[in-house]
Amino acid sequence: MKAVRIHAHGGPDQMRFEDVELAPPAPDEVRVRHTAIALNFSDVNVRRGGFYQPEPMPMPIILGNEAAGVVVEAGAQAGAWKPGDRVAYVGMRGPFYRNSGAYAQERNVPADRLVPVPDDIADTVACGLLLKGATAASIIERIFPPRAGQTILIHAATSGVGAILTGWAAHLGATVIGTVGSAAKAKAAQANGAAHTILYREVDFVSEVRRLVPAGVDAVYDGVGKDTFVRSFDCVAPFGMLVNYGNASGHVPPIDMIDLAIKGSLSICRPAVSYYLNDPVRLRGTAERLFDLVRRGVLRIDVAATYPLAEAALAHTRAEAGEHAGAVVFLP
Ligand SMILES: NC(=O)c1ccc[n+]([C@@H]2O[C@H](COP(=O)([O-])OP(=O)(O)OC[C@H]3O[C@@H](n4cnc5c(N)ncnc54)[C@H](OP(=O)(O)O)[C@@H]3O)[C@@H](O)[C@H]2O)c1
Repeated sequence: MKAVRIHAHGGPDQMRFEDVELAPPAPDEVRVRHTAIALNFSDVNVRRGGFYQPEPMPMPIILGNEAAGVVVEAGAQAGAWKPGDRVAYVGMRGPFYRNSGAYAQERNVPADRLVPVPDDIADTVACGLLLKGATAASIIERIFPPRAGQTILIHAATSGVGAILTGWAAHLGATVIGTVGSAAKAKAAQANGAAHTILYREVDFVSEVRRLVPAGVDAVYDGVGKDTFVRSFDCVAPFGMLVNYGNASGHVPPIDMIDLAIKGSLSICRPAVSYYLNDPVRLRGTAERLFDLVRRGVLRIDVAATYPLAEAALAHTRAEAGEHAGAVVFLP
């Protein structure tokens, strides 16, 4: 089969679409023929290297943590899965930057990591939804559930995760202020439920948030990181919550805890979706709730672009330039 591998960390030019041998599935595994593979920004970070762990990662690496497809073979202890079942998965067990391997035509997946894809959910939607949606679920269902009357600042509101957060928080009755990188993205964020948008590369988002909500917002959901997180302290009302779930612009610098007191008794949180999804029961329940939110029209998964898997490097180049607005999917 073909897969996209890197043999060294670096730019998109390190990504090779090449032949790879795939062993038969272990007894507790299922062989899945991928029909749709998700691009997540974490794949860019793994490709760049040096981001999550100081130790060198063993090469070569097949990138990717999320795909949908069809069961072609099930191991003897793989439960009820059978050839032809439509399935999807996100992550294996443990941190996403280990055990990647989704940028491939086929993969052996532990049976308990698979979720069934309902008939009314397309493969591209399933794999555009699960990792980003589970990240949003960990924030919205657990860390800071938005309520009517609250205002939430969501950075990069049309990013894959940001769009899900925006639609979901607005559905729950919160007023969403979304920062975005272009006028086209502002329109998309508003169509998805943002009450206000801020072109944060053109105007100072702190002053604009304070103009819109003088008392400050109740929470910030931030996947941009370095360029936005610390400045966001000045956007939050006393006792507010700042969630930094990602680093698209780079790592957030170390934070002095006393600043949280000085800026108004604030809370900060740094979730990691791998921990949220390690438990197979929570994985399945989260997937079912996310599929239902899509079915009911609460969440819209706009597949911003599809690429042949062979062109994954081009998709990475565009993702790093912030050119996509929504989920990006590879077709193997
Ligand atoms: N904590 C977790 O477990 C978890 C789970 C999923 C994702 N994440 C992280 O969340 C972040 C967003 O992921 P995603 O899949 O939603 O990303 P995405 O769809 O690729 O969107 C990233 C967006 O970030 C904005 N951005 C700001 N500065 C940027 C820069 N220097 N380079 C590139 N983009 C920049 C751009 O939007 P504008 O043009 O609007 O600025 C861009 O479109 C990533 O850091 C990812 O690793 C974390």
